[in-house]
Amino acid sequence: MGDKLEKVLLSEEDIRAGIARLAAAVDADYDGEELLLVGVLNGALMVMADLSRALHNPITLDWMAISSYGAGTKSSGVVRILKDLDTDIKGKHVLVVEDIIDSGLTLSWLLSNLRQRQPASLEVCTLLRKPDAAKVQIDVKYVGFDIPNDFVVGYGLDYDQRFRNLPFIGLLAPHVYS
Ligand code: PRP
Repeated sequence: MGDKLEKVLLSEEDIRAGIARLAAAVDADYDGEELLLVGVLNGALMVMADLSRALHNPITLDWMAISSYGAGTKSSGVVRILKDLDTDIKGKHVLVVEDIIDSGLTLSWLLSNLRQRQPASLEVCTLLRKPDAAKVQIDVKYVGFDIPNDFVVGYGLDYDQRFRNLPFIGLLAPHVYS
């Protein structure tokens, strides 16, 4: 990575342990129920792949692609759907899978959108959360790690579409984005 990363925040081993903890909690809570995992593209691709393989209960998978827009900034809270679910979630147990909750605005919009479709239940599982960046309060049932409000990349998370393929999560060096 040269000088692009300041340090490793979560190693592959840390992530594996975090995913295993999340999977055990989800398995326990949905024992005997069929669960639909809804991954939010693109960031959640790694979490979805690893979480789904760590679960023992039967699940199905679906994906949404959404994009913040409006003032040209991310996390404006104004969201449009680029790819909707293929599944009708009415009456289903739904778990939204995210890589990171930053301001919470994307998720807040997504949850109110999905709630209108009348799922039997709707919960959230995120690998990372930045408590200091929260702009809205969201009840998140499954959180892998609370992290500081720094620019993180890897394991699905990008800077300018790069770094998603890193197997660990690192802190981006400030000179890369400033
Ligand atoms: C990231 C991440 C969340 C959202 C969190 O997605 O995957 O969906 O931002 O930010 P928020 O809590 O401030 O709303 P992004 O829009 O960067 O797209 P990506 O998943 O394709 O990287």
